[in-house]
Amino acid sequence: MTIATTSPETATALNTMLDDVVTGLSQSQKTLPSKYFYDEHGSKLFDDICELDEYYVTRTESALMQTHVVEIAAAVGPEAILVEYGSGSSQKTRLLLEHLDRPAGYVPVDISSEYLAKTGRALQAEFPHINVVPVAADFTEVFGVPNSVPVSARKVIYFPGSTIGNFRRPDAIELLSRMSGVAGSSGGILIGVDLDKNRDVLHNAYNDSSGVTAEFNLNVLRRINRELGGSFDLTGFRHNAIFNPSDACIEMHLVSTRRQTVNVCKYVFEFEENETILTEYSHKYTLDSFRQIAEEARLSVKNTWTDANDMFAVLYLEAD
Ligand code: AVI
Repeated sequence: MTIATTSPETATALNTMLDDVVTGLSQSQKTLPSKYFYDEHGSKLFDDICELDEYYVTRTESALMQTHVVEIAAAVGPEAILVEYGSGSSQKTRLLLEHLDRPAGYVPVDISSEYLAKTGRALQAEFPHINVVPVAADFTEVFGVPNSVPVSARKVIYFPGSTIGNFRRPDAIELLSRMSGVAGSSGGILIGVDLDKNRDVLHNAYNDSSGVTAEFNLNVLRRINRELGGSFDLTGFRHNAIFNPSDACIEMHLVSTRRQTVNVCKYVFEFEENETILTEYSHKYTLDSFRQIAEEARLSVKNTWTDANDMFAVLYLEAD
C-alpha cells in the first residue's frame, strides 16, 4: 500500500510512524513507541484509565495538587507562561490555572491534534482571561512556541502524570535538558513523578480488572491497521504488564497468542507463539533516583511535595 493523504504534514507524520513501527518490529525484542497509543480513541481510553480505582496515579497526583496548590502556584510565580507537555484533556491543569497569579499564557502541547483542538477551545471558554495557545506537536521533537505568547515572560514547563517515566533513562535526561532549554535560566519545570511502591499495587494498576489498559495497549495495533494498512488480528494478541525490578519499571507487552504473520505496508513480520511486543516502559522512582536524573540534566530540585503514603511526588526544578 502507498500512504494516501490529504496534506504534506500528515504524509510526513505517517512516514515517520511507519519508520518507527518497522524499526521497532524488526528488533529481536519487538517494540512499538508508546507515543502511538494516543490517537483520539487512545487518548479517550487513557482518560478512562485515569478514572480506574486500580490506577492510583491520577487521583494521588490530583489530591497532592489540591493540598499544595497555593505553594505550587507560588513556585510557578506571577505572570508566567505555563507550557504543558502532553496536555491530553488538561484535567489536572485546571486547578493550577485557577491559582496562578496573572498567568501570561497557557500553551498545551499534545500529539493528538483533534483532541487538543477540542480541549483548547473548552479551556479558553473556561478561562477567558488566560491566553490559551494550543500547539499540536510531538514534544519529544523540537517545536516552536507561537508568537502570540509574550517572548519575555518567564516560562514554566508543566509535565504532570509521571509521563517522564515512559522514557528510558538517557531519553528522560535528554528530554529534561531540552525542557530546561525551553524554560531558560529564569524559568523552571514542574513535574509529576510516580514513586516505587508495593508490587501488587503496581501490578493491578497496569493489569486492571475491567480490561481498559488491555484495550489501550491493543489500540496501537488497531491504529497501525488503520493508518499504515497493517493486518494485525487483535484477537491474536493479549495484554500483559510486568514489573522489571532491575530497571524499576513496569513493562507493557502485547503477547502473540499463536504463531502468525503480520503485514504492515509492504513489510512482513513473523511472530512466534508467546513472542511479545514491548509497547511501554513506566519507570517508578525514589526521590533520590529522580534527583540523580535531574542532576544529569543540570537541574536542581527546588521543591518536593509528596502524599502521606509516598506514592507520588510533584517536584519543582530549576537549571543549575
Ligand atoms: C502516561 N503514562 C504516565 C501512563 C503510565 O502510567 O505510565 C500511561 C499508562 N500506561 C498504562 N496505564 C497508563
